[in-house]
Amino acid sequence: MSISKEMIPVQRPCVGQRELEAVSGVFNSRWLGMGSVTRTFEKELCEFLGVKHVIAVSTGTAALHLALAVLELKPGDEIVVPSLTFVSCVQAILAVRARPVFCDVDENTLNVDIDDVTRKITKRTRVIMPVHFAGVVCEMEKLLTIARDEKVKIVEDAAHAFGSTYKGRMAGTIGDINCFSFDPIKNITCGEGGAIATNNHELASRVLPKRNVGVNKDTWSRLEKKQPWYYEVVTQGYRYHLSNINAAIGIEQLKRFSEFKARKQAIVKSYDESFEEVDGLKLIRHPIEETFPFFYVIRVLNNRRDALMNYLKERGIASLVHYIPNHLHPLCAEFRVSLATTERLYDEILTLPLYFEMSEADVRKVIDGVLSFFEKS
Ligand SMILES: Cc1ncc(COP(=O)(O)O)c(C=O)c1O
Repeated sequence: MSISKEMIPVQRPCVGQRELEAVSGVFNSRWLGMGSVTRTFEKELCEFLGVKHVIAVSTGTAALHLALAVLELKPGDEIVVPSLTFVSCVQAILAVRARPVFCDVDENTLNVDIDDVTRKITKRTRVIMPVHFAGVVCEMEKLLTIARDEKVKIVEDAAHAFGSTYKGRMAGTIGDINCFSFDPIKNITCGEGGAIATNNHELASRVLPKRNVGVNKDTWSRLEKKQPWYYEVVTQGYRYHLSNINAAIGIEQLKRFSEFKARKQAIVKSYDESFEEVDGLKLIRHPIEETFPFFYVIRVLNNRRDALMNYLKERGIASLVHYIPNHLHPLCAEFRVSLATTERLYDEILTLPLYFEMSEADVRKVIDGVLSFFEKS
C-alpha cells in the first residue's frame, strides 16, 4: 500500500534503490541481527557526531529508556521535561520509576523555557531532558550552567535534531548522555532505529549490556573467542539492539545527509519568506544555518488553527498538531501542572508538509494554500 498520491503528506521518508541494495547485501550475508553492519554504523556515527561512544538501538524510545536506566535513579526522582514533546519522553521516565516534572516552553522556539526549568528544579531533581523541538537546539549553555550548579544530569532528546549544531557542536553530543531516533520520518532513517551518544565511558559501558538483555558480550563480538557460546548476564536488560538490516539503511542515509539537510533548509527558507508578513500567523524562530529542520511548525492566532487545517485538507494538503501536551493526557493525571504557554500553543500550532522529496510545485501549493486562507479572511 502506498501513501495517498492526492494528498501532500506532512512527512515522508526518502528511501530507494541504494537502501534496498544495502539490505540485500545483509540478506546475502545471512547475518540479519546485530553484527558488523551495526558496528560500522556506530563507528560512522561516532565520527560524524564527533563523540566518543555511540550505541545503536532499536528505537529512539529505547534510547531514552536506556539513557535514563544507566543513571541509577531512585523511584520518585524527578526529571524536568517539556510537556510539548512526544510521549516517548514520558514513557521512558515512567519506565525507570522517576517522576516527570513538566516545564513550559518558549513560544518563539517551542524549546524549553529556561526560567521555568529553573523554577521546576527541586531537591529531588536528577535530570533535565531538553527536547530540540523541530531540529532547533535548546539553549544548551544555560542548561549546562543549571546542571552544573544543581548537580543534575542532562539527557538531550535529539530525536528531531540529528545533524543540527549549536555553537559548532552537534546536537546530541552536549549533554551527559543523549538520544537520537531514526524512525521512518526522522532526518535520517533506519526504517526503525535509534542511538545513544555520550563522551562518558562509564555510562556507555553500562548501556552496552542493557541493550542486549543484560549479556556482557553480544553474539558477534564473541565469534572469535575460544568459547563463543559463553556469556555472562551482568545486569537487568532489554532487547533493544539495532539489527544489521536497519543499520544498513542508516549507513546509506548518512551518506545523503548533506543533500537531505540542504533541501529541507531551502524549503524552510521559502516558507519563512512567504509567511513572514502574514497577519494572524507567527513563525517559529530557527537559526536556519545551524538547523537541520525536522518539522515546519507555524502558530495560527485568533483560534483559527483548525479552520486552516480543514482548509488545507480540502486542497489536498495534510497538516498535523505536534504535540498534544503530555500533562493533559490521562496517563499524566498524577503529574498535572498548569503550563500557560504550552496550553495556549496547543491551540495554535500547526505542522506543515516538509520532506526531502517534496517538489517545488508541492511547496508552492502549500504556500498558496496558507496565503489564500489568510487573504480570504
Ligand atoms: C521528541 C521525540 N523523542 C523521542 C521519540 C521516539 O523515537 P522513536 O519513534 O524512534 O521511538 C520521538 C519520535 O517521534 C520524538 O519525536
